[in-house]
Amino acid sequence: GAPVEVNVGKMKPGQAIRAEWRGKPIFILKRSQESLEKLKQIGDLLKDPESTKETVKQPDYITGIYRSIRDDILVVIGICTHLGCVPQQKKELSPEEGAGFFCPCHGSKFDMAGRVFSNVPANDNLEVPPYSYKDENTIVIG
Ligand code: FES
Repeated sequence: GAPVEVNVGKMKPGQAIRAEWRGKPIFILKRSQESLEKLKQIGDLLKDPESTKETVKQPDYITGIYRSIRDDILVVIGICTHLGCVPQQKKELSPEEGAGFFCPCHGSKFDMAGRVFSNVPANDNLEVPPYSYKDENTIVIG
């Protein structure tokens, strides 16, 4: 499939854009500073906080707990790593867990970096597709 361009220049913290790439839903999220801080604090609640499991799908240039090129912008494939449903974005999964994604099929939960929580059936963090920045505010997926 052709690469997909998404402009993130006008996104506000907390805002999400949904795109499609190779027939898959792509979630693009602009994270607030507060949200990035939360990601540093919830490692104990996650199965793979540093996203280093061999089974995790993400490009080599994606490293660290934010799992993104630009700290504030997350790009993930919106397909639950349990059995493939599309998770929903939630402002708050719980006070402890903060914002993230909830899969309605069997209750898997992922944080604002697409990292999977420990107490759910999914085992892997959400997949990060290959992408790059064409300019400061334009993402090219694929
Ligand atoms: Fe998402 Fe099972 S498919 S929890």
